[in-house]
Amino acid sequence: MKWFKFLCLVSALSMLLTGNGLAQADIDAKVRQLLAEMTPEEKVGQMTQIALDYLCFVGGDPGQDGLKLDPARLEEVIQKYHVGSILNVATFAHSVDKWHEIITAIQDVAVQKTRLKIPIIYGIDAIHGANYTRDATLFPQAISMAATWDVELLKKTAEITALETRASGIPWNFNPVLDSGRQPLWPRLWETYGEDSYLTTALGVAYIKGLEGENNDISVPDKVAACLKHYIGYGAPVTGKDRTPAWIPDHYMRQYLLPPYAATVAAGAHTLMPNSADVNGIPVHASHYLLTELLRGELGFQGVVVSDWADITNLYTRHRVAANNKEAVRMAVMAGIDMSMVPLDFGFTNTLNELVKSGDVPMSRIDETVTRILTLKYQLGLFDRPYPDKTLKAQFATPASAALNLRAAQESMILLKNNNTLPLNKSMKVLLTGPNADRLSPLNSGWTITWQGNREELYPKNKYTVRKALEEKIGKANVTYVQGTTVEKATGIEEAVKAAQKVDVIVACLGEDAYCETPGNITDLTLPEAQLDLVKALQKSGKPVVLVLIQGRPRIIRSIVDDAKAIVLAFLPGMEGGRAVADVLFGDANPGGKLPVTYPRYPNDLTLYDHVFAENIGGPTTYNPQWPFGFGLSYTTFAYSDLRLDKSELSRGDKVTAQVTVKNTGKIAGKEIVQLYLGDLVAFITPPQKRLKGFAKVELAPGESKTVSFVLGEEEMHFVGLDGKPVVEPGEFMVSVANLSQKFSVK
Ligand code: BGC
Repeated sequence: MKWFKFLCLVSALSMLLTGNGLAQADIDAKVRQLLAEMTPEEKVGQMTQIALDYLCFVGGDPGQDGLKLDPARLEEVIQKYHVGSILNVATFAHSVDKWHEIITAIQDVAVQKTRLKIPIIYGIDAIHGANYTRDATLFPQAISMAATWDVELLKKTAEITALETRASGIPWNFNPVLDSGRQPLWPRLWETYGEDSYLTTALGVAYIKGLEGENNDISVPDKVAACLKHYIGYGAPVTGKDRTPAWIPDHYMRQYLLPPYAATVAAGAHTLMPNSADVNGIPVHASHYLLTELLRGELGFQGVVVSDWADITNLYTRHRVAANNKEAVRMAVMAGIDMSMVPLDFGFTNTLNELVKSGDVPMSRIDETVTRILTLKYQLGLFDRPYPDKTLKAQFATPASAALNLRAAQESMILLKNNNTLPLNKSMKVLLTGPNADRLSPLNSGWTITWQGNREELYPKNKYTVRKALEEKIGKANVTYVQGTTVEKATGIEEAVKAAQKVDVIVACLGEDAYCETPGNITDLTLPEAQLDLVKALQKSGKPVVLVLIQGRPRIIRSIVDDAKAIVLAFLPGMEGGRAVADVLFGDANPGGKLPVTYPRYPNDLTLYDHVFAENIGGPTTYNPQWPFGFGLSYTTFAYSDLRLDKSELSRGDKVTAQVTVKNTGKIAGKEIVQLYLGDLVAFITPPQKRLKGFAKVELAPGESKTVSFVLGEEEMHFVGLDGKPVVEPGEFMVSVANLSQKFSVK
């Protein structure tokens, strides 16, 4: 007991101390002192974030590391407007050294040529690794990492992301995305951990700990501040298009969308970015309820809220809830935005200065906000160490990081179908075809080197497309490559059919081009016609056809599923994805990923797995996807037995332990993701049939069994009532794992 108390004390003390030895109380005192010395204009400047694009000479593509900063603009931004933060890449990924040059030039002005020497906080989107630094380790995108269901693995990728971002001299990462992806058309689905809030929560918390460290001590030189985004409802747009309205009843939002934010706020994340769109008719950037009452009042968030790109201006130019910039700025600041990602002018800064002068925005609100921003800068250690830490470069993109990346990509592969076809034999002759067989950009998609990730010519030459990986694995002579079609347009279907005659098997790499945000909007979830035509023509050849899907969303492929011998869903497996696909196809890796989203069968049937009983009016076909949430095969087989509960009747507040045994019944080792679902059979608000409430990834040798335990308490049993509060009602609950189920009741 004494030991326990001692450990608690040590951990409490370490929470108070930051990596450069400053306790929070010291930081608070320093911030108070600095704030007292600041003019109103200097304060408003701290609330302004400008894009690097504004700070460099414009015109043309400057080439690798060719970006040139404009000293006059630097002066204007930092000395005249006292800007506190800069973001973005301006052109495309810079080398580590170039980043050092850029950040050093910026900090030189901030800490040497200004009165108060306040360092700039630089922010970047390091979404799947430090994607704006050349040759960084670029991991599978979030949807693929979610397919691994592996919290430890995700945490390690976040640690490397933090290190490589800081090694670039950048201390703030606009990630992770905690929007649950409830709309498969939405072009940012792949930036999420899927449709389920339990899985998103588990992964989101692990990612925060990876970026910020166990104690969130972001002054540690290889840690960065995380940014939770895009709070809230962004992933559930009615239209499926980017940045479009969502209508979400409050209790539904709290039940299905809030948990990942609540948990990552509790896990200590330092910053947050709101959803660019409207929820229930109110733009989130203008919602005092969401940004202040719920986020700060209820969740206890204490960090910095940074707007999304131009989203204060958008309050009048797009949402039309404000008549002009003045109204928009006042609305957003009073709702709870601390920093405006303006990003290319001083409209925000000038207007806020006027609003402060006229008293329309009280100084108390400005002080509150600037206190948060300065605190973040102190917590990051920026006042002591504003410049890039050059020693970190030695750990940038190491072979060990690439090896971990390959493992992550392998573990993310989801085997959706296998008619005794995979793994292929290495002596087979293969026709490799499809738009995504010989390109790196579709394996990585957006946020890769550029925002859209589609500049194939900028990708590193030493990385493997699926084609290069296959050729290396089985020899060039065994691989015939015919593209057959681009994503949208046939380029040689007949040629592919002809080539098919001479091979043993056809591997078709299908899917999407790279995209990000609004340019990725689509109006039809079906895979483009040209690709379906290619596969249908090849399926008539009589040769086995294996499909590899390289795409950010579940594009509908119903018409080619039955005649496909095997289907691997790779989603967006990152820079080592080509090798991972080849490893899985030839059995050098055993696929074990599981779907973090429902894979629909029809474009107009987008029911998600946690649908309510009442939707079942049409009989058991209501949830009839191509493949359900949580699905994925392996090259071995697993059998479940003996699902048992330690109690069948619970009193209020009791916990129940569920145990289940899983056995590897096949011939090779494999990993299985054991998933526990819970259903409340009767509830005041129509209950979902089941929701994920536990999972465990187990590795089993052939013939080996393991017993897995899950503890279920009120946290797992509750639903959110109409008053927004959690309720556990007496009655029956159903626990299910794979094909087994058991009931318990709560008195
Ligand atoms: C995106 C954010 C991103 C920001 C800065 C916006 O367009 O919605 O996710 O962090 O740009 O690049």
